[in-house]
Amino acid sequence: MLNDYLKFLKGVSVSKTGKAGVVLTTSSFVTFLILEFARMIGVFTNTYLGLITYLLFPTLFLIGLILIPIAWQQRKKESGKSGRELLDLQFSKEETAGSFLGSKVFLSIATLSILNILFLVLASSQMLGFMDEAEFCGTACHSTMNPEWTTYQQSPHAHVKCVECHVGEGVDALIASKLNGMYQMISITFNLYERPIPTPVHQLRPARETCEKCHWPNKFYGSKLKTIVHYDMDEASTPRYTTLNLKIDETRGQKTGIHWHIAPENEVRYASVDDKRLEMIWVEARQKDGSVVRYMNRKILNQEKESAENERTMDCVDCHNRATHIYEDPSAAIDARMQKGQMDRSLPYIKREGLTAITQSFTNKEAGMDGVRKYIEGFYRRNYPKIAETKMDKIDQAAETFQSIYHRNIHPSMNIQWGSYPNFLGHGQNSGCFRCHNENMVNEKGKAISYECTTCHSILAQDETEPFKYLMPANKKDPTYDMHRYLQDEFLHSFKN
Ligand code: HEC
Ligand code: HEC
Ligand code: HEC
Ligand code: HEC
Ligand code: HEC
Repeated sequence: MLNDYLKFLKGVSVSKTGKAGVVLTTSSFVTFLILEFARMIGVFTNTYLGLITYLLFPTLFLIGLILIPIAWQQRKKESGKSGRELLDLQFSKEETAGSFLGSKVFLSIATLSILNILFLVLASSQMLGFMDEAEFCGTACHSTMNPEWTTYQQSPHAHVKCVECHVGEGVDALIASKLNGMYQMISITFNLYERPIPTPVHQLRPARETCEKCHWPNKFYGSKLKTIVHYDMDEASTPRYTTLNLKIDETRGQKTGIHWHIAPENEVRYASVDDKRLEMIWVEARQKDGSVVRYMNRKILNQEKESAENERTMDCVDCHNRATHIYEDPSAAIDARMQKGQMDRSLPYIKREGLTAITQSFTNKEAGMDGVRKYIEGFYRRNYPKIAETKMDKIDQAAETFQSIYHRNIHPSMNIQWGSYPNFLGHGQNSGCFRCHNENMVNEKGKAISYECTTCHSILAQDETEPFKYLMPANKKDPTYDMHRYLQDEFLHSFKN
């Protein structure tokens, strides 16, 4: 059997090119099998090796296969012989003799061709599956995707594959994503990509094909009570509470809530100045009767910046743009860890000094990690030598926490600093919701998109010492008495239609 096969191989390789083809095909096939076996039993888990197994070897295999007929053609031309004559020359009579199903040579070629096709189909489907793994997307290009991979692993979607959000349904989405992937490989090889990587607004599939597979818009109802703790910059890092009751439903009787924008019967379109989507030119809302109301930005009304390219139908990622790659605000990042008890609040000025430590600028990550720790330790050694002596373990623990914040959020090699990727979910510095909900975004009657403080949330405390300050009885002597009563009433009545 093996002898027959070798004889056959010798026969088909008519020239040096042909031999090279046979060697290439056979050796890449065998290497593929060995590597795949090794991967299956867990000897290798490396992503690069996966890339080589599934991309390189099947490609070499295919090139080898193609070389064989090319060699035949060349040989035919050079020797002036016909195909039949060449066949007789390369194989014995017995092998070329016709039988009921065709000659032995013909049968070998047919069987091998079927096997080859099967192998290639299998290898490419393995390849596609492999490329869909988050591990591949997150680590194949190493330093480039490191920020996305880091933030992904700590997000609520850490178990959702990259492709579930980045590649939509259907064959066209698959092909588009693979073409795009090829371009990305080229841009990484030749270092053509931007740092930080721009957000893929145009490439992202509509949320209906991605997010809505798992999150059902109609299920947003009721409200969500959220208490946010911020710590002051004073010696004791005093906690302050902000409590919001977020009106996250889409409709509630006559009233509308935050997910109104994506309810099936509604549509919001907008044009932004650029792909960053930080400044809107106009916003359109389709009404129940099908008519459309357009709001224009008074601030840039007369500027002819409008371009069709930046028009977009609003969906989940216009608010949840950081659903997965969540970069934190430095102060809020410390607050969150402090609330979880990951640093000792009895260390004087720990909030203030931590913030200074992590917002310093460093040339690379290692210098940053080192610099953060040195800054904290140095501060207590210099200013509180006693505490430095007795509580070094607490100081180290705090320093480690600050380092982990820095590590997660700052990526100097990709030019990612604090604020490189703004989060649209709230409204810091005229961003987020306030891009549209502001006094300058007006319709032809001069009415603005609503921006009253209680449109989106009731406010039960805002930087207060009590988390539910405005639910408590108001004190007539307090200067905030009227506001207190107003917010209390608004909250208590916001549940009724
Ligand atoms: C739950 C959905 C989701 C998952 C899972 C997900 N992404 Fe994203 N990704 C997004 C969204 C949304 C954006 C930003 C879109 C925007 O701002 O409009 C984004 C942006 C990006 C960007 C551009 C840089 C940036 O932060 O804006 C890269 C690169 C990226 N993702 C890679 C990945 C990789 C690699 C994985 C898997 C390890 C992954 N994504 C998993 C939703 C997701
Ligand atoms: C394959 C399923 C899947 C897809 C696709 C998906 N998600 Fe999620 N999402 C989840 C799961 C699972 C959770 C975690 C639920 C939990 O922790 O309670 C989650 C959580 C969330 C949360 C809540 C986070 C929090 O802090 O409570 C938001 C917001 C969210 N997803 C938005 C999105 C958006 C926007 C997209 C599209 C860009 C998306 N999801 C795509 C499965 C998915
Ligand atoms: C207009 C902005 C906006 C749009 C558009 C939007 N969301 Fe939200 N979503 C919010 C806000 C604000 C919250 C509350 C934030 C929080 O929990 O801190 C929220 C909360 C959520 C939650 C958590 C709900 C809970 O009960 O904890 C999920 C899941 C979610 N959104 C998914 C989606 C999906 C999926 C889409 C698209 C179909 C979408 N959102 C569209 C603003 C938006
Ligand atoms: C791209 C522009 C845009 C962005 C960004 C945006 N909205 Fe809206 N929003 C609108 C428009 C337009 C309406 C409808 C106004 C109308 O028809 O009166 C609306 C309506 C609403 C309503 C219903 C209010 C009412 O008076 O009926 C709520 C609540 C709301 N948005 C919350 C949010 C929140 C929260 C965010 C940020 C997470 C946000 N929106 C971001 C454009 C936007
Ligand atoms: C268009 C909707 C909308 C309007 C109008 C709005 N907010 Fe908000 N606000 C939000 C959302 C969404 C968040 C983010 C909630 C979260 O953290 O998930 C937020 C967060 C906040 C926070 C907490 C910030 C933090 O992290 O500490 C405060 C305080 C606040 N809003 C006060 C106000 C005040 C005061 C006004 C009126 C000037 C106002 N909001 C108007 C939607 C709105």
